[in-house]
Formats: sequence, structure tokens, C-alpha cells
Amino acid sequence: MKIGIDDIGLFVPEHFFPLDELAARHNIDPNKYLVGIGQELMAVPAPDEDIVTLAANAALPLIDSATRASIATVILATESGIDQSKSAGLFVHSLLGLRADCRVVEFKQACYGATAGLQMACALVRQRPQEKVLVIATDIARYEQNSEGECTQGAGAVAMIVSENPRLLEIHPHQGRYSLDVMDFWRPNYRSTALVDGKLSIDVYLESLQHAWQNYRADGGLALTDISYLCFHQPFTKMAKKAFSVFENIEPEAAKALGDKAYSTSQLYGKAIGNCYTASLYIALLSLLDKTEEDLSGQHIGLFSYGSGSVGEFFSATVVKGYQAHSRRQQHARMLAQRTRLSHAQYSDWFYGNNQPASADYSTPRVTTGAFRYCGAEGYRRLYESTAQQLQMAS
Ligand code: CAA
Repeated sequence: MKIGIDDIGLFVPEHFFPLDELAARHNIDPNKYLVGIGQELMAVPAPDEDIVTLAANAALPLIDSATRASIATVILATESGIDQSKSAGLFVHSLLGLRADCRVVEFKQACYGATAGLQMACALVRQRPQEKVLVIATDIARYEQNSEGECTQGAGAVAMIVSENPRLLEIHPHQGRYSLDVMDFWRPNYRSTALVDGKLSIDVYLESLQHAWQNYRADGGLALTDISYLCFHQPFTKMAKKAFSVFENIEPEAAKALGDKAYSTSQLYGKAIGNCYTASLYIALLSLLDKTEEDLSGQHIGLFSYGSGSVGEFFSATVVKGYQAHSRRQQHARMLAQRTRLSHAQYSDWFYGNNQPASADYSTPRVTTGAFRYCGAEGYRRLYESTAQQLQMAS
């Protein structure tokens, strides 16, 4: 049975802040961010955006009436959850008008959660092939202002429909996993910004990749010589180069044959968006699928997912013949091109101001023009608004 990603969509906020201007503010050489870190623009959420609106906006184009009728599970993965108890997926389920006999759950393991979601989705489809699973990775990556992590921030969501006989990517059954209890990046419940030991986090990421790869090979996974492209979790896009160096060390000949082109196209979207934690690996995958001119049909892709704390997983997939006909690359290109640049003052206010206070009642200013917006709270209950025409027509 072939199971995998039948459809995939990206959503990023409508605003960005450029990294060369951040470098000027920090009084450092812009090439540290542009080249050393590999980031050019940071996607910045407006006060009326959160992980729910990002997720619902990413999923909306994937939902027609047939898909709506067949989605039996929603798995929402995030590091930036909005409630300690209720799954953010339930807000998304409601905004998208999905059926009531559907299970909805939120997955957490830093940036790794969506990969656990994808693997669970494949297992559910294997069990009940007539049903589809909606997996959404959605995050706002936020560090202390003026910290070393600030230049890697970003926001965005990727939605995927997992089904039998997928039109885009067939996921292989082989899995390479590696878990280790380590404090490289974490966010206690009372904090809105992450704590991180940056150098340690890079070292543990690379160690995790090496172990996960060995575990994947032991599970019968492809040899590196059979893989054409590699997509890595990219907290900043230079990390893909560091990840590739693991293969240059342990599989020098195969890595040399692959060359930098194995991962360079997968960096393009991430450079213009920034870290999106759970969504970053899938943004790398979309970058590869959308921006590669040659036909990728039949090519094998290796994917490495990493979530600090830490869990790493290496898995692989084959691009399905005819995938281009189902691509949303034009929609993604338009969305990225139409974004508005923010001043430093506006970026600081939106990212670090008290726009979404922990009070019982407040309303957010109307900024975004997407199909869904976050309106504020009444009696501590979060409120959302939909202008999605597809849903109004469907209801
Ligand atoms: N021109 C070109 N390159 C320059 C430069 C210049 N003028 N100045 C510096 N550089 C280079 C440095 O040589 C260095 O390159 P290498 O990494 O290849 O050696 C690079 O720019 C970064 O410089 P520093 O190491 O001095 O940067 P830093 O100390 O400010 O911290 C960081 C970098 C640790 C990544 C920091 O941004 C951070 O803590 N980020 C958040 C944590 C993170 O992303 N960790 C990744 C692994 S964990 C994970 O993947 C989960 C997750 O999503 C968080």
C-alpha cells in the first residue's frame, strides 16, 4: 500500500523584518546573519495572528468538500501552544468546518512534533485507508530580544493531507530514531521566549542526525547513493550545510557525488521566513518541490527532523510522478512576494510588545487580511473570526 503526502500548503504572515537592518541595530556585520547564519528575512506575525490562524490559513486551500468529508483525524504540532489543556487543533477544526466524527489532538516535542504526527498519520491511513489525516505544523519562534537567537526567529505553518495513493510524496516505512534527555533548548510554562544553549543545541542536533541515520540504515533504509536530495530541519538555513557535513564525514564518497545541490534548493524558503520550529523541515521540503526546475518524479528524498530536548528522526520518501500538477508553487510565490516590510519599531512592538495580554477581556487591532484572524479574548476564551468564502459557500 502506498501512503504519504497527497497535498501540502504553506502559510506565512503578511509582514517581515530584514536581517540586514537587525544586524545594523545590533551593530554587527550583516554578513554574519546573511551568510554566517543564512537568514535574510524574518516573518513577523501581526497582533491578530497566532498559531491557530497560521494553521487554518495553511490548511484552507487544501480543503474541498471531498477532502472535508474524508478527514478523520487532525494532528496539530506546535512548540508555541496557546493553551495548557485544549488542543489548538480544535479551533482549527472548527474554523475549517471539519466533520464532528473526527479526532483532534496536539503534539509537542519542540520542532520534532510534526514528524511524529506524519508517522502517526501514515499508520492511521494504513489501518483505515478510506480516511485521510490532516497534519499541521504551526509555530512562532521567539527568543529574548537582543539575544543570539533573535536573528533566527520566524513564523509560519505547513498543512499536509496524508492519504493512500498520495499525489505528491510516498513515505517509506523505514525509520531512524534517536532520543536523548538534554537541555539544549526549552521553554518553561511561564515564558513566551525560548531558553537555549546555542552551541550545545548545534552539537546535539549533529549527534542526533548521525545516530538517526545509522538507525535508519539498520532498519533497512536506502543507502546514501540511492538518495538524490536531503531536507533537514533548518532552525537557520546554515544548519543544512552543517548537517550535510555529517554525511561528508561518515559517507565521504556518496556525499561528494551528491554535492551541495542535495540541500541548497531546500534552503530558499527558509532564508526568507526564519525558523518555524515544527514547520521548518516541511518548509525545506516545499522549497525543494516548488523551486526545483527539473522533474523530481521518482527521486528519493532523505528527511531529518530534529526537536531539541531531544528527538531526531531520519526517514525517506519518493516523489510521485505527476506531482507538479498538484503543486501550489504559484500561490506560495505570490504570498511571499506580496509581504510588507516592517520598521524596527513596528517589529519590536509586534514581536515583544504586550499585544496578546493574559487578561480576561481584550481585542486585537485588525491588521491581517487572511481568511482567519485572532480577535482577542472574552472571559479568557480566545476568539477567532473567519472570512473564508469557501466555508461560507460550503455551509
Ligand atoms: N561574515 C560571515 N560569517 C560570519 C561573520 C561574518 N561577518 N561573522 C560570523 N560569521 C559566522 C561564524 O563564523 C559562524 O559560522 P559557523 O557556524 O559556520 O562557524 C556563524 O556566522 C554564526 O556565528 P556565531 O557562532 O558566532 O553566532 P552566535 O554565537 O551569535 O550564535 C547560534 C549562533 C548559536 C546559532 C544562535 O543564533 C542561537 O542560539 N540560535 C538558536 C538556537 C538554534 O537555532 N540552534 C540550532 C540547533 S537546535 C534546533 O535545531 C531546534 C530549534 O529549532 C531551535
